[in-house]
Amino acid sequence: MAEHAATTSRPVPGWHGAVPDDPVYYEDPYPFHKALRESHPVSLTPDGVWRLTRYDDCQRMLRFSGAGMRLRDGRMPGQTREEAEAEVGRFMLLTDPPDHTRLRKLVAKAFTPRSISAWRPRIEAVTDELLDGVAERGEMDLVKDLALPVPATLICEMLGVPVEDRDTFTEWTADATHGLALRRGNAPPDLVERVMKAGLGLAGYFNELIAARRGKLGDDLLSRLIEAEEEGDRLGPEELLIQSIGLLIAGFETTIGLIANGLTTLIRNPGEIARLRAEPGLIESATEECLRYSGPITWTVRVLHEPIEFDGYRMEADEEVMVGLAAANRDPDHFDDPERFDVARYAAKPAPPAHLSFGGGAHLCLGAHLARLETQVAIGKLVARFDELELVEEKTTWGRSLFRVPGRVPVRFRAAGGSAS
Ligand code: HEM
Repeated sequence: MAEHAATTSRPVPGWHGAVPDDPVYYEDPYPFHKALRESHPVSLTPDGVWRLTRYDDCQRMLRFSGAGMRLRDGRMPGQTREEAEAEVGRFMLLTDPPDHTRLRKLVAKAFTPRSISAWRPRIEAVTDELLDGVAERGEMDLVKDLALPVPATLICEMLGVPVEDRDTFTEWTADATHGLALRRGNAPPDLVERVMKAGLGLAGYFNELIAARRGKLGDDLLSRLIEAEEEGDRLGPEELLIQSIGLLIAGFETTIGLIANGLTTLIRNPGEIARLRAEPGLIESATEECLRYSGPITWTVRVLHEPIEFDGYRMEADEEVMVGLAAANRDPDHFDDPERFDVARYAAKPAPPAHLSFGGGAHLCLGAHLARLETQVAIGKLVARFDELELVEEKTTWGRSLFRVPGRVPVRFRAAGGSAS
């Protein structure tokens, strides 16, 4: 029927002018997001996955109660029934209620703003020590010397994982992030192997740690999860293992990208770094702007449990939708001059809308307060102490992660009161 034609038609599938696994996309995905948002704001990938890029559409999708992470029969998209049955434990991000509600509740208290603010002195001490270690050198790698060790130390201490084991799992946590995208198929065999190796390595490591921690519980998250598992009805043994691994990966990987991308962007915008140095009170706004402008996670995914319409296109239950967090964050309908990096943007009254870099709805990032505080302290202190920051390499070298996380960012600087070497 003619009047229903718009709601039953589907857009032409395609990448629309760019190939996302192209290194050019990886280096600078924002022109592609802009072009897509302007020309095909609601689109279909060649794999038949829906893609949204406008702020309002992304926000609506994240909050849509008729969507979750799994198909209605409990499988992940692309998973066979046998694979789903063989899957014993699931990280909370990949679950729907009631499992999601139960798993998230077990650890949510540790991540409230109040609980996280108690970690501030520790975050400050770790940051000071790291900056002391490089101050005399006049050069550092922003990743190795700051952006990685701050979140890694903190999530290890919160979980009760020995920080000195960090080198054992640094590559595993980065490689394991690709597991989130592998189920889409077409993955290169060497990547599949890296993900498998990382998963086995992390499982072996945590199995030993959990066995050693039983009977000697402490004041850490791993001990709380072991208690819940020992009580029997709140957490299965495999769920305990997967939540521990998932929390380590989530806490370890993403914040590296936020701190390193944020500092890189600041250095590329000398006026903005000078403004932040002159007005340190802008650090909270600057951190939100770093999340908006160069957040490490550019897309998240939902699976529909009920049909929904965008722009007259009807999406059906059990179809997948990619939500363009980074594309939404630069939507000119919501952000003035969205391509401009402005450390005071979130200090304006009225403030612009929240960025979508932490996702939204039931799966809104649990570690958002922790990531913000770590970034405020790390960037705030570095900018206050080191002057004349300069990138040694103009082009970013990306790391092993699925997310936008640099592998290294060498910089030169002058420590306040010191001299650059
Ligand atoms: C800059 C740093 C971070 C960014 C950009 C980030 C981003 C995200 C995003 C986009 C999601 C999915 C949300 C959705 O689909 O709606 C998520 C989920 C999650 N994040 Fe983060 N994250 C960061 C840091 C952290 C940290 C430090 C932790 C600490 C453990 C953490 C723990 C989690 C957990 C547990 C989930 C799953 C929540 C759920 O399914 O209910 N994240 N994060």
